[in-house]
Amino acid sequence: MDPYVAVVRCQYGERRGETVDKPKVVLGVSGGIAAYKACELLRRLTESGHDVRVVPTASALHFVGAATWSALSGKPVSTEVWDDVHEVPHVRIGQHADLVVVAPATADTLAKAAHGLADDLLTNTLLTARCPVVFAPAMHTEMWEHPATQENVQTLRRRGAIVIEPAVGRLTGVDTGKGRLPEPAEIFEVCRRVLARGVTEPDLKGRHVVVSAGGTREPLDPVRFLGNRSSGKQGYALARTAAARGARVTLVAANTGMPDPAGVDVVPVGTAVQLREAVLKAAADADAVVMAAAVADFRPQTYATGKIKKKDGQDPEPIVLVRNPDILAEISAERARPGQVIVGFAAETDDVLANGRTKLRRKGCDLLVVNEVGERKTFGSEENEAVVLGADGSETPVPHGPKEFLAETVWDLVAQRLT
Ligand SMILES: Cc1cc2nc3c(=O)[nH]c(=O)nc-3n(C[C@H](O)[C@H](O)[C@H](O)COP(=O)(O)O)c2cc1C
Repeated sequence: MDPYVAVVRCQYGERRGETVDKPKVVLGVSGGIAAYKACELLRRLTESGHDVRVVPTASALHFVGAATWSALSGKPVSTEVWDDVHEVPHVRIGQHADLVVVAPATADTLAKAAHGLADDLLTNTLLTARCPVVFAPAMHTEMWEHPATQENVQTLRRRGAIVIEPAVGRLTGVDTGKGRLPEPAEIFEVCRRVLARGVTEPDLKGRHVVVSAGGTREPLDPVRFLGNRSSGKQGYALARTAAARGARVTLVAANTGMPDPAGVDVVPVGTAVQLREAVLKAAADADAVVMAAAVADFRPQTYATGKIKKKDGQDPEPIVLVRNPDILAEISAERARPGQVIVGFAAETDDVLANGRTKLRRKGCDLLVVNEVGERKTFGSEENEAVVLGADGSETPVPHGPKEFLAETVWDLVAQRLT
């Protein structure tokens, strides 16, 4: 069984004194063109062991019919409070939910939720739910950027809802821009993160966090570079988990080639110098910066504008390297805001803890995640194992497990320091 489903089941079963109890998810679907994508989200939720009740709006049924929602969820579907009144669905559905996710959330539904309107089953459910609520907005860029929508989003976030930032890409018709529904797989990740934590109030709500991920590449000529083996998976896990805990996340991604996590602002970069620039800019108003990217210590002194060719009978020219800026030390020494929490990562091959402690002191950061590089560990793997060293002398071992577990521990430690 998927480890997260096991965690979620165990957690919810224990809470209610039962051995296994499927988490109850309400999937609200409002009337946007992306409503069809909610079918995939529904499938992912049901197939991973969640008990899903779909509550579409009347407009949503113009896009995907009630028969589809009913067949895929195995439950009755209605849009109004007047069906099955003896079961008081306008109150019960929200009261019994462990999570409400609205995907897609139209500008109209966001406005109704922000203002507490209750003129259909979904808006009633949103008022009666006391569990975490996730909105995945999707609309044209103009609608998203309108001050009315932005204020409604701020209101919902202030009250504790998780509003995932829309993705950038193709919209209805030929338009492109911000407003696209994030991929169902990404929304699903946010849902299971939120369920696994089982808290109503996201602890990073209102915080801006910056995460760097991947590995920098230092070009030698138009076809070659000096790089490293970092995949970016740990940084992406950090970004996803922070978004699910309510943070506004800027992910500075160096050569990762992975899909953007839902609700995360991704800034693509190539070299260490570009990464520094992007991190410094994003860190200006950040509460925490987590430097998970593997940043090259050196770069070639010169860049050959044409491909370097081998010459018969001649040894190759040596490559002269120069130092790259030490971004972690720099942002730790000159904090952009008082109380900003800075986290570094150190991959070590030997004497892991002793080297980690020395590095923590040298860099001046608050936390250093130290992991041993080796077989099945760290680079490219889905799992990780580490010790998080604190500048206060603390040591938090994180046993071998998915990179999300390590990410959750890092945010636990960051959240403690932020309060
Ligand atoms: C073809 C079409 C596509 C639409 N797509 C969206 C959309 O992606 N996002 C949005 O906010 N509204 C969209 N709308 C407008 C909503 O359907 C309209 O605001 C409706 O009142 C929303 O109702 P609801 O929030 O109760 O579902 C679309 C309308 C049409 C006709």
